[in-house]
Amino acid sequence: MKVFIDTAKLDEIKEACSWGIVGGVTTNPSLIKKAVDALKAKNENIEMEAYIKQICETVGEGKPVSLEVISLTRGKMIEEGQILYAKFNQVADNVVIKIPINTYNGEDTTSDYEGLKVISELSRKDIPVNATLIMSSEQALLAAKAGARYASPFAGRIDDYIRKNLAIKFEKQDYFDFCLMEAIGEQRFYERIEDTSHKSPQSAYLDEEIKKCIDFAQDKGIGSGVGLVKSIMKIYRNFNMKTEVIAASIRNARQAREMAEAGADIATIPFSIIKEMIAHPKTAEGIKSFVGDVVPEYSALFK
Ligand code: E4P
Repeated sequence: MKVFIDTAKLDEIKEACSWGIVGGVTTNPSLIKKAVDALKAKNENIEMEAYIKQICETVGEGKPVSLEVISLTRGKMIEEGQILYAKFNQVADNVVIKIPINTYNGEDTTSDYEGLKVISELSRKDIPVNATLIMSSEQALLAAKAGARYASPFAGRIDDYIRKNLAIKFEKQDYFDFCLMEAIGEQRFYERIEDTSHKSPQSAYLDEEIKKCIDFAQDKGIGSGVGLVKSIMKIYRNFNMKTEVIAASIRNARQAREMAEAGADIATIPFSIIKEMIAHPKTAEGIKSFVGDVVPEYSALFK
């Protein structure tokens, strides 16, 4: 699994690149806002074009940098995608255009398909596309069909969605324990089956409460963000689809590891979580004792 860094902050990108682990960068308008706000807080001005060029250069050739469009209609998104590609791909030949899979924002249902149109048009022009805001395997299948080079399922946001539907309180970085959720769901199901004396499978099948237990902690059969990524990987492998999966919206180190176990091609991980991945109390304890045990005979080797 490649590791991309999910940030637009140049200092974070530079630092993570120096660790030799960065295979690419993903940005979005919210991440750009965070980077701008952080610079403004230090009274630093930002010249956006030069700043993004620096990002592309820092990451370097062969390591994709995703830049997102900001409009919601086909024509505008194509135009913006081409502008971003023309301005920045010349720097290190690594620009990928991020297009939302669906631009429906609760108002105009015709905009449901604008994303797909743009993904296929830009891909046909050989401009690589990262289909973003993917929340279902169905969307990921369509993104691949339309020609997206990358598909970005937002795992953390799916976990948030499931927990919110269950009225569970959580902090953004909390681990989503899908095993626990499954176990609670199963228990509810058996309790309900025992409580009701269904005379036939048909009456159990029609029992609304039983249906709710089956759907407990799921988004149409998807039990977690990691589950979403697994499902998409399976579909893409079934049909040998070339689109690469970027597991996105990663909320903690354990989830990042589970993405690797799920076989995600790439995980795009915030800087703070990449840092969390390196830490273990036993490693800290071990290094302390190794340093303390160095004998003069051994340290003389290095003089
Ligand atoms: C990356 O492509 C996404 O924009 C990003 O991972 C979203 O993360 P968030 O859900 O934490 O905002």
